[in-house]
Amino acid sequence: MSSTRNNDLTPARSEQSDDDEAWDQYPVENPGIEPHVERYTDVNKAAGDRAYRKVITMFALVPILAILFVVVYFAVPKDAAISLLGTDFKAQTLLFGLTGGLAVLLIGVAAVTWARDIMGDHEISEERHPAGTDPADRKDALAMVNAGVSESNVGRRKLLLGGLGGALGIVAVPAIVLFADMGPWPVKAVRRETIERTIWAEGVRLVNDVTYRPLKASDLEIGQLVNAEPENLKDLHSHEQLVEKAKSAIVIVRMDPHTIKIPDSRKDWQVGGILAYSKICTHVGCPISLWEQQTHHLLCPCHQSTFDLGNSGVVVFGPAARSLPQLPITTDSEGYLIARSGFTVPVAPSYFERDSRNDYKDGDR
Ligand code: FES
Repeated sequence: MSSTRNNDLTPARSEQSDDDEAWDQYPVENPGIEPHVERYTDVNKAAGDRAYRKVITMFALVPILAILFVVVYFAVPKDAAISLLGTDFKAQTLLFGLTGGLAVLLIGVAAVTWARDIMGDHEISEERHPAGTDPADRKDALAMVNAGVSESNVGRRKLLLGGLGGALGIVAVPAIVLFADMGPWPVKAVRRETIERTIWAEGVRLVNDVTYRPLKASDLEIGQLVNAEPENLKDLHSHEQLVEKAKSAIVIVRMDPHTIKIPDSRKDWQVGGILAYSKICTHVGCPISLWEQQTHHLLCPCHQSTFDLGNSGVVVFGPAARSLPQLPITTDSEGYLIARSGFTVPVAPSYFERDSRNDYKDGDR
C-alpha cells in the first residue's frame, strides 16, 4: 500500500528563506508525523488472507448463534434454572444472553477486523478550505465514496458484503421471535379478559393501598383523598398481582355533596359525597393523585390533564380525551366501602379498538 502525507503545516524551510518574518512565527521546528508503516496484512499475502478468513468465519457463526437463540426459546422451559457460583439464573435468560450477545459481538469484532486489517490503509491529509457544496466538491465527495467502496475490497471480496448483510439480516430473527411473548393477539374476546377487565366486582372491599386496611365511609373527612385498591388483590401473587394492581388502583375522594354535580345515572354510585375513580390517567396511563380540594380537580403530573371529580371525572384541561372512569360504590352492613360492580368502562389509556360509547360525557344524565 502506498502512503500520501502532507501534514506539516509549517512552511518548508526552502520557501521561508526569502521571508524571515513568516519563519519567525514557527520558532520550533515541526517534526511532522511519523513515517507510515505498512500493515503486516498488506505486505504478507498469507496474513491478509488469514484476516479475510477470520472475518468470514465470524460472520458465518452469527446465523448459527441466531438459530441457537430460537432453539433456546422453544426448547428450554421458561421456568428452568441454571446454577452458577451458588446463584440460580433463569436458564432462558442466560442462554439468550450468551447466544444473542455473542452474535452481536461477533458482528462487531468482524467489522473492526475488516476495517483494521483488510480495508485500504492510505493516510490522506486535506487542507482546510471554506465549507461549501459547489458541484466540484460534490463530484470529489462522490469520488471519495467510490474510492472508499473500492478500498473496502467489497468489489474483489464479494463474500464480505454478503457475509455482513447475511449476519445483520439473520440477527433480526431472534428479535422477531421475542415478539411472540408480547401476549396473545388482542382480539375482542382477549381484550375483554385482559385490558378491559379489572378484579373489581360487586361486594369487593376498598382497602387503603399502604395499610391494606378496609376503608369505612365514616372514617373519611370532607376534602380528603385516599389511594386504594381492591381487597382481593392480596389473593394474587407475583406478576399477576402487579398487573392487576396497575389496572385496579383507585382514588377515593370525599366532597360536600351540595357542591358537586352527580348525574341521575350515577346517584347510587356514591356514598354521601364519597366517590371512587380510577387512578390511571386516560391519556397515557400515569398514576394520578394531585388533588385540589377547593376545585375538586385531580391533576395528572405527566402532561397536566385535569379531571373534575365533582363532575363525574370529565376532562377540564389537557390532552386526555376521556373522562376518568368512576367505580360505583356503596357500603356493606358494617359500614365499609365496597364496590357496587366492576368499572363500567375500560380503565387507562385509549387504544384503537376502544369503544367509547359508554364513557361519561359532560351533561350525560
Ligand atoms: S398521562 Fe396524564 S396527562 Fe398524559
